[in-house]
Amino acid sequence: MQKIVIVGGNRLTGRVKIAGAKNATLPVMAATILAPGISVITNVPRLRDVITMKLMLETLGAKVAFEQGVLTLDTTDCGPHEAPYDLVRTMRASVYVLGPLLARFRRARVSLPGGCAWGPRPVDLHIKAMEALGARVSIDHGYIVAEADELKGANLHFDVSSVGATGNAMMAACLAKGKTVISNAACEPEIDALARFLNKMGARISGMGTQVVEIEGVESLRPAESAVIPDRIEAGTFMAAAAITKGTVRIANCNPAHLSSVISKLSEAGAQIMQDGSELVVSAAARPGAVNVTTAPYPGFPTDMQAQMMALACTAQGTSLFVENIYSDRFTHVPELRRMNADITVEGNVATVNGLDRLSGAQVMATDLRASAALILAGLVAEGMTEVSRIYHIDRGYEAIEKKLSQLGAEIWREED
Ligand code: UD1
Repeated sequence: MQKIVIVGGNRLTGRVKIAGAKNATLPVMAATILAPGISVITNVPRLRDVITMKLMLETLGAKVAFEQGVLTLDTTDCGPHEAPYDLVRTMRASVYVLGPLLARFRRARVSLPGGCAWGPRPVDLHIKAMEALGARVSIDHGYIVAEADELKGANLHFDVSSVGATGNAMMAACLAKGKTVISNAACEPEIDALARFLNKMGARISGMGTQVVEIEGVESLRPAESAVIPDRIEAGTFMAAAAITKGTVRIANCNPAHLSSVISKLSEAGAQIMQDGSELVVSAAARPGAVNVTTAPYPGFPTDMQAQMMALACTAQGTSLFVENIYSDRFTHVPELRRMNADITVEGNVATVNGLDRLSGAQVMATDLRASAALILAGLVAEGMTEVSRIYHIDRGYEAIEKKLSQLGAEIWREED
């Protein structure tokens, strides 16, 4: 196992190029199952989750090549195979193959993902959506088994806005007979990007990026080519890194429109943020001010940025409140930040952070992807050395984060644990 070591105290300066978005890549990869033939995806980040999805598609019979940010996926020989537990348990996004398998082959057998470090993470909405489209769904020895003679368009209303369920329903509905309307659909840019890719494949989707998405079913889809949108969470993480170290960083290849809630919170904390086309320049001259953060579906503040923002609040002047509304237990970074001297208390889904002048470097353990990012941010400003172990989590969602931070002037490296 590897760890990341950081010696805190350096201000970050320079330019960092943001990679393609993990959360946009994974559903688009699954969508290629819908159309036999060769689809091409560019601007693909080299991440462990992308490799896991590649393995999943290969298990389902696809031929996948991944070179220099380009994925070439030949799904001609995909069959209605099983999405096995061993892959699904390492990455929940594997459940995205359910809708495409069902739509193309009229049957699918996909392992139930189970929970994760911060709670049960159900898939009931995915299952209800498949049932509403006409599938018979049962749970068999830990697997979702879905079958349908034909899929029929339906009116779907989600009780809670779910990125995963919206994506799965959209993919299945593309090949259903007639019209599907999804209300309370997720508006996340990654769902908008998925819909645009499906339309390139010949789907007829409108309203994507809003809470009401309409899908007019078509007979068949064709392979397509598409570039992955920039990763708004990686961009937000580097913006927070600039602010926490009182540095000046140019964030290149991002989409500022996708970052409005993050820009607004970092500005509130005292950072100066200037937009220059598709680049943002983030600088901070003083210790951050306290902020209150409430996570919410897009365009609200992303749950995937809560931990990183909390690292910033640990060094802020004053008391910050964090309300986690998407996953109420998503605070596994808190005990680790406390090891670095942070003053945080948690009650239910609310964390109260009293900012301190200085954090102190310590040995800490990454518990999930965004928690690892938060610990690295804290390490950048902590006094002395911080060692973040179990760093495999970070490789799921950030491409060579230590190299990018080191190019910005941080004293950071990776070594064997
Ligand atoms: C969520 C985030 C996403 C983030 C991902 C990984 C939101 C809205 N979604 O996506 O941005 O990238 O975590 O950190 O912020 N739910 C159900 N039943 C279901 C599916 C979901 O009750 O079948 C609930 C979840 O428990 C959660 C909410 O709906 O409270 C949002 O779920 P969803 O968007 O699907 O979660 P992820 O796709 O994991």
